[in-house]
Amino acid sequence: MAIRWRQDLEIGIDVIDSQHKALVESMNNLLEACAAGRAREEVGKTLDFLSDYVVTHFNYEQEYQKKHGYPRYEEHLKLHRFFLQEVQELRNTFEKEGATLHFTVSFNKKIVDWFINHIGKADRDFAAYIKSKKTTT
Ligand SMILES: [Fe+2]
Repeated sequence: MAIRWRQDLEIGIDVIDSQHKALVESMNNLLEACAAGRAREEVGKTLDFLSDYVVTHFNYEQEYQKKHGYPRYEEHLKLHRFFLQEVQELRNTFEKEGATLHFTVSFNKKIVDWFINHIGKADRDFAAYIKSKKTTT
């Protein structure tokens, strides 16, 4: 199952939106590789890229939030840390089992949850704060 990028996932901060899109692309590659039962190395490579990119992206968001005095920064940071832990768990599962059905299903579930709850809610709240700040200052 591929994730389809929808316009309503855009939060209106260009750099962050393009990072989110790149993440979707990479996740889709990984999902495809799992579904096609492609070579272990390919899934491994995509998973490596994904883990690095998530860190880069989260750091960018966190710096941005700090710079703008986002009041829910700590809460957002916890969500990022939780997700990073989940990515680490996925890597462990993948290393142990390879791209099994179990791995593919739990990967799918985590990514979809993250999309709905993180980009769809937490990042949206933060973007709304930035917008409100821009209109009041
Ligand atoms: Fe975020």
